[in-house]
Amino acid sequence: MNIPYLPLQQLNARFTQADQQSFTDVQQSGRYIGGDKVLLFEERFAQYCGVKHTVSTGNGLDALTIILLADKQLGNLPENAKVLVPAHTYIATFLSIINAGMQPVPVDVTDMLLTVENLRSQTLKVDAIIAVDLYGKLVGDDVYAFAKAEQKPIYCDSAQSHGAQNSVGIRSGAIARASAFSFYPTKNLGALGDGGALTTMDDNLAAMARKMANYGRSSQFENDVKGVNSRLDPLQAAFLINRMPLLDEDNKRRIQIAKSYFEKIRHDHVVLPKAAFLSHNAMHVFPVFVNDRAHFQNYLAEKGIGTNVHYPVPAHQQKAFKELNDLSFPQTEYLHRTEVSLPCHPLLTEKEVLFIVDCINNY
Ligand SMILES: Cc1ncc(COP(=O)(O)O)c(C=O)c1O
Repeated sequence: MNIPYLPLQQLNARFTQADQQSFTDVQQSGRYIGGDKVLLFEERFAQYCGVKHTVSTGNGLDALTIILLADKQLGNLPENAKVLVPAHTYIATFLSIINAGMQPVPVDVTDMLLTVENLRSQTLKVDAIIAVDLYGKLVGDDVYAFAKAEQKPIYCDSAQSHGAQNSVGIRSGAIARASAFSFYPTKNLGALGDGGALTTMDDNLAAMARKMANYGRSSQFENDVKGVNSRLDPLQAAFLINRMPLLDEDNKRRIQIAKSYFEKIRHDHVVLPKAAFLSHNAMHVFPVFVNDRAHFQNYLAEKGIGTNVHYPVPAHQQKAFKELNDLSFPQTEYLHRTEVSLPCHPLLTEKEVLFIVDCINNY
């Protein structure tokens, strides 16, 4: 069998006709920045997430950075704010803090995500918190309750959790003070290029973020704050509008696949996530943990099964973050050393899932 980790072309082929129409619409509209498609996507995404505002951006990193810049501009965060971040994340979360002129304060995770236990000793020392819904799994509601009790603004890096719902049905995007999404092509809701958005219930934060994302402009030739240029392309907005109606169904299929893996994979050297991982999750990534990662990946590759790693080197061990290289986060380091992502996408057939399970069980 040939089972790629993520067959992007096949996934996007489901939208060929709609996308071709979108291209024609945008080309003929004569409006290539902003315009109806961008506004419509923002409206639909806000409605989907259950928030008042979506501000679209050029990518997910910018969405996170702009949230921090906007809250600094509003006086809700100080210059050089210290921002708590889970060490186990994609480097973009760390970079957003740097880009906003602030300082990342990494903490280790429990299992795979930030918990109250991880926060407790550091909360007094920081000005804000970024939770990360890594692999699509929502950070627990108790983390938000704790941040609220401590009166610390908490934001969410929701780049991997489009559509996930918490225990009372609130969707990713509507849980934190503001949340940042990426529409990078591999995401559960992915564009045909870069794209991002932030969501929030807060009118002032939304207005400031919108201004920040557009050069800090208050009118065509007036700028009251120093902003950036980060805009969602109308073509990408149109492609995202085409994909939104399938998101829930796609996520359901991802969860079914994850359940099959969870129930059927049995191997002493392949560690599965805990059962709790299966709920409140958009299942962007299904991770397993193996000490002999390269060997395991090669074995699966020989069987025709593509895998991935999210991620091999944590931010605090990267050259780019020399100032953090002396820190040690044992759980994060274990995850980075052993994680292997199995194929988990909506087009994977039952037969393919069973073949993957079989191969792993015979490893
Ligand atoms: C957890 C996380 N945060 C942030 C980002 C940044 O998104 P983008 O690549 O759209 O800038 C990504 C995706 O790449 C991500 O996975």
